[in-house]
Amino acid sequence: MNKNERVFVAGSTGMVGSAIIRNLVKQGFTDIIGTYRNRKPAFEHEAVRFFPLDLMDANQVAGFYAEQKPVYVFDAAAKVGGIVANNLYRAQFLYENLVIQNNIIHQAYVAGVKKLLFLGSSCIYPKMAPQPIKEEYLLTDKLEYTNEPYAIAKIAGLKLCENYNLQYGTNFIAAMPTNLYGPEDNYDLQNSHVLPALIRKFHEAKVQNAPNVTIWGTGSPLREFMHVDDLAAACVYLMDNYNENQFVNIGWGKDISIKALALLVKEVIGFNGDLVFDTTKPDGTPRKLLDVSLLTSLGFIPKIDLTDGIRDAYDDFLKKYINK
Ligand SMILES: NC(=O)c1ccc[n+]([C@@H]2O[C@H](COP(=O)([O-])OP(=O)(O)OC[C@H]3O[C@@H](n4cnc5c(N)ncnc54)[C@H](OP(=O)(O)O)[C@@H]3O)[C@@H](O)[C@H]2O)c1
Repeated sequence: MNKNERVFVAGSTGMVGSAIIRNLVKQGFTDIIGTYRNRKPAFEHEAVRFFPLDLMDANQVAGFYAEQKPVYVFDAAAKVGGIVANNLYRAQFLYENLVIQNNIIHQAYVAGVKKLLFLGSSCIYPKMAPQPIKEEYLLTDKLEYTNEPYAIAKIAGLKLCENYNLQYGTNFIAAMPTNLYGPEDNYDLQNSHVLPALIRKFHEAKVQNAPNVTIWGTGSPLREFMHVDDLAAACVYLMDNYNENQFVNIGWGKDISIKALALLVKEVIGFNGDLVFDTTKPDGTPRKLLDVSLLTSLGFIPKIDLTDGIRDAYDDFLKKYINK
C-alpha cells in the first residue's frame, strides 16, 4: 500500500477496526478514513477523519465511496457477539452481516477500489473439523448450529471476494482470525466472548472480595487467543504482501485450556480467591485451533504473548469501564 493513498477502515469504532487504524497511524499512513453510527470514536490524530455512515444503507455507502474515493478498504464492520447473542438474534446476525458486507464489498467494486480485505471468523469451519484447522476444511461438514447464521454470512463474504476477483478481476482478499482480545473489547457479560468475560468477572470478584469465581464447564476445552494489535499487524501485512484468492487463517498458533486461561487472568488481575467449575454448563467443542502455516509461510509472525496481552487488555478495561 502507498502510505499517502486513502485507506477506508469500515467498523472503525470496533475492536478490530480501531486496532487497524492505530497500526496504520503507527506505520505513517497519512489519509485514513473511518465511519461511525451513533458514537464518535474517541481516537484523534491528524491522519484520521471519521464520517457518520449507516453501512446497512446501500445508497449511503455508494454515496460515501463516490465522494471519498478510497484506494484501499479494510472491512472490519459486522454485527458481532458471543454464543448467547448469536443464538438469540439469529435473524439479525444473518441479515445485518450479509447486508453490511454486500454494501462494502459491492460498492468497493463499483468505485474501483484497488484492494480490499474482508474480515471473517474461525466459526466458518465445521464444528467437528480436524485440528489444527486448515483453510481447506471450509465447507467439508456441518457448522455449529448456535452461530450458524453468523458463519453463513461470513462464508458468503469470503465467497463474494473470491468470486468478484474471478468475474471482475478485483483484488479482494479475506482473513479468518481466531478469538481476539485487547483494547476496545466488549465486556458486557450478556454479549461478550470468553476472555473479556473472564477479565470482568475476576475484576468484580476482586473488588467485592468474593471467595470464588465460577467458570462455565469443566475448564478443559482448548482455545486460541490473539491480541488484536497482532491481528491488525497481520491484516496490514496481508494488504502489502498477499494477492491470492485463497483466504488466510490468522491466529497465534498455540492454544490454552480455559482453566489455564482463567488462572492466568486471575494472576494478572490479582484475585486471591478460588476457581469453581460449573460442570452443569456445556463445554462446547473440545479444541479449536487454527492452522496458521499459510500465514507463517508468507512471513508473518505474531509478537504479543498471552500474559502481556491480558495485562494490556486489563489496563484498557480499567481505563474505559472503571475509571471513566
Ligand atoms: N472479536 C473477535 O474475537 C473476532 C474474532 C474473529 C473475527 N472477528 C471479526 O472482526 C470483525 C470486527 O469485529 P470486532 O470484534 O471489532 O467487532 P465490534 O467491536 O463489535 O465492531 C464492529 C464494528 O462494526 C460497526 N458496525 C456494525 N454495524 C454497523 C452499521 N450498520 N453501520 C455502521 N457501522 C456498523 C460497529 O459500529 P458501532 O460501534 O456503531 O456498533 C463497530 O465499529 C468482524 O468481522 C468479526 O467477525 C472478530
